[in-house]
Amino acid sequence: MQQTILIGNGWNPYLFREEIRSLVGYDQIIHPRILSITSDNSLQNLSKSALLDDNLKNAEILYNVPSNFTEEKLSEIIMKWAIKNLPTGSFAIRSRKIGERISLLSRKKIEKEVGASLMSQQNIVNLENPEYEVVVVLAGLEDISSREIEFDKLTPVIVWGLRTPIDNNRQFESRSPIDRPFFKPVSLEPRLARLMISLSHKPDYSPSIIIDPFCGTGGIAIEASLQGIQVLASDLDTEMTEGTIRNLEWSKGDGKFIVKHCGVEDISSIWGKNIQTSFVFDPPYGRNAWKSNDGLDLFLEALKSANYINPNGTICTMLPTVPEFINDHSSEKYLVMGKKWHDLELLIVNTGWSVVFKYPIKVHRSLARLILVCHPLH
Ligand SMILES: C[S@@+](CC[C@H](N)C(=O)[O-])C[C@H]1O[C@@H](n2cnc3c(N)ncnc32)[C@H](O)[C@@H]1O
Repeated sequence: MQQTILIGNGWNPYLFREEIRSLVGYDQIIHPRILSITSDNSLQNLSKSALLDDNLKNAEILYNVPSNFTEEKLSEIIMKWAIKNLPTGSFAIRSRKIGERISLLSRKKIEKEVGASLMSQQNIVNLENPEYEVVVVLAGLEDISSREIEFDKLTPVIVWGLRTPIDNNRQFESRSPIDRPFFKPVSLEPRLARLMISLSHKPDYSPSIIIDPFCGTGGIAIEASLQGIQVLASDLDTEMTEGTIRNLEWSKGDGKFIVKHCGVEDISSIWGKNIQTSFVFDPPYGRNAWKSNDGLDLFLEALKSANYINPNGTICTMLPTVPEFINDHSSEKYLVMGKKWHDLELLIVNTGWSVVFKYPIKVHRSLARLILVCHPLH
């Protein structure tokens, strides 16, 4: 069985791993930002990922890189690998470093040495437009956050393999919410919206419809539609529903969409029972919550409706919490949506869902959000 290696984006290695676990599953953590898959999992869902930087097939790993290791030694090892794994055709070597410097190895020199050793009549170098890209990643361990003590045992590694292109709808920087026809400060960043959609997957379950009962400017709806997933969106504010429609038409995603003007309490009757749906939303809170003081009732109403529409579905949501939660993950004492975590979890369980994953991220100095994933309780 050939090995696939996945390289994660540096923004948040923990969420990268959780995203891959949800989309396709993985076999081994090689490094906080490197996962390996050797089983026969279907890898189709990888194109949905928000935090995957590189997907390498026929990949190999060099552990315990000695301190006197050289570019020449590396190119000898990669040359042996290439005999079996580099198909006939033009190629380029792309090397990158992640984490702290693993040694004094030079990227430029690696590209030159390895390129020269793999060059033959069957394989000519083409830096501009190669048929194959051999990616070499030198990975140090810099990005271990304090809570990831499990990684103490991992050592720096070098991995390489053939690049498998990832879907190109992922240029999040070029798709900023402020460039959309309709923008409000509540708009969710595309990368975060896409991550939430990924987290609503399981390796054996891919929702074909995403429901967002608090669609706002359509941040989640746009990302779902761009991936060809159908969207059922609603909001109590007509300005928002009209804006979401404009944004969805502008983004030209393949996923069909229906946008309705209604409060969360009406979504069960509007959408009816619907298998293959998942629920991805960031509920209102504070001033932006209508018909309740803190949004908690609206959130619980959304969970109850979700349980009616598809009791076998999944939920990914994001709740306001305090920034202290970020540095103190083990603590259950902080307020989430105005409630102690333990009390909130009981309320969630009472709506028929169990929390399978929670993780706080920073929004700004005084506010953080807790990403939550829920699966059916039964
Ligand atoms: C945090 S915003 C969602 C932002 C959205 N994810 C985006 O990317 O723009 C919450 C939304 O919930 C809506 N809302 C407030 N109360 C509601 C209710 N009772 N039922 C449905 N929507 C409601 C607000 O109008 C607001 O658009």
